[in-house]
Amino acid sequence: MKEIRIGVIGSGGRGGLAIAAHKPDQGSRVIACCDVEEKVLEGNRRSYGADVFTTKDYRELLKLNLDAVFVTTPDFLHEEHALAALDKGVAVYLEKPMAITIKGCDRILRKAREKSARLFVGHNMRYMTVFIKMKELIDKGAIGEVKSAWCRHFVSYGGDAYFRDWHSERRFSTGLLLQKGAHDIDMIHWLTGAYTKRVSAFGNLSVYNKCKRRPETQRGCASFNSAHWPPLKQTGFSPKIDVEDQTTMIMELERGILGAYLQCHFTPDACRNYTIIGTEGRIENLGDGPQSPIFLWNKRSGGYEMIGDQVYRGGIASSSGHGGADSVIVDEFLRYARKGGKTTATPEAARMAVAAGYQATMSLRDGGRPRDVPALN
Ligand SMILES: NC(=O)c1ccc[n+]([C@@H]2O[C@H](COP(=O)([O-])OP(=O)(O)OC[C@H]3O[C@@H](n4cnc5c(N)ncnc54)[C@H](O)[C@@H]3O)[C@@H](O)[C@H]2O)c1
Repeated sequence: MKEIRIGVIGSGGRGGLAIAAHKPDQGSRVIACCDVEEKVLEGNRRSYGADVFTTKDYRELLKLNLDAVFVTTPDFLHEEHALAALDKGVAVYLEKPMAITIKGCDRILRKAREKSARLFVGHNMRYMTVFIKMKELIDKGAIGEVKSAWCRHFVSYGGDAYFRDWHSERRFSTGLLLQKGAHDIDMIHWLTGAYTKRVSAFGNLSVYNKCKRRPETQRGCASFNSAHWPPLKQTGFSPKIDVEDQTTMIMELERGILGAYLQCHFTPDACRNYTIIGTEGRIENLGDGPQSPIFLWNKRSGGYEMIGDQVYRGGIASSSGHGGADSVIVDEFLRYARKGGKTTATPEAARMAVAAGYQATMSLRDGGRPRDVPALN
């Protein structure tokens, strides 16, 4: 078996995911890393060996003889980096969100088609055991015909992760309904088997605009710390914040399914909770860990029982990041890079998640006026 030679663009932060692809004894090796931070490149040489090629310029990396490239840079660079990698015809693992505009996604899809290159987008939630189980139950008819899909997303770490660096500016992320929401919108699409056709949304910036900012001269940096509470007492936020910290999105999906997505970045707790309602029941997860429970209610009752009529859990997952999903998704990418074939996450679905999040963001900045979501072309 020919060894897969891998390059990583944006090899710090989320780029750490590529370590799961570095398996020299199993035919895949990270041979090159690109990052603008020297410290990151030093760390890469420690992780991948002193002979790993390192550069601050992705064009230098793409001159090498590579089979696959991870693009794990911030969102606003995805389009430029993915287009350049796809242009070389290599397999590309592109982090979510695919891009920060619908047009950007469509340019990436076109380039992949034109070059017959294998494009894969890192929607890792599709690989989390709790959601695999939930989808399996829905697909086998446990709640009848799906009619409604709602998601509440509490983001206790919102102030740490999204209001201290590039995430806080529209020009770099479009907004958090797209940046963070791409995950949840994709899950709603995946669990229901339907894409969003029309959206309306409301949202505002109601907390982090009142917090102390860092000086313009100081570099932005996400910093996770559970002692950062309550949000209004925290400091060090981006000098410029023009994205919303709470949003509510209403969706009309295919097959007459209605959806709602609520995202809040100043909750004390962190949880993603999807409720899918069908003609014969309701299913809901509590959390996204491998052992998080899934409740299924399918008997009529006059009141509310928090525990469902049946309780399920996802399968055992490996100990890798994001509930075991990160190593599974990387393995699937490596298989796809080698042989092609079907994948659980698809670039078309990734584009539809961005398209719905983008149009909802435009809606909320336009008084909630409904917007059609352009179909795939
Ligand atoms: N799937 C998931 O669960 C998940 C989790 C975290 C992040 N992400 C995604 O991963 C991406 C990166 O997020 P992050 O939090 O690691 O961001 P980050 O700001 O830490 O950037 C990642 C790396 O890219 C480097 N970089 C920045 N500009 C660069 C350039 N011009 N050329 C080369 N390298 C450059 C940074 O120095 C950093 O090391 C985002 O698109 C984010 O949405 C996905």
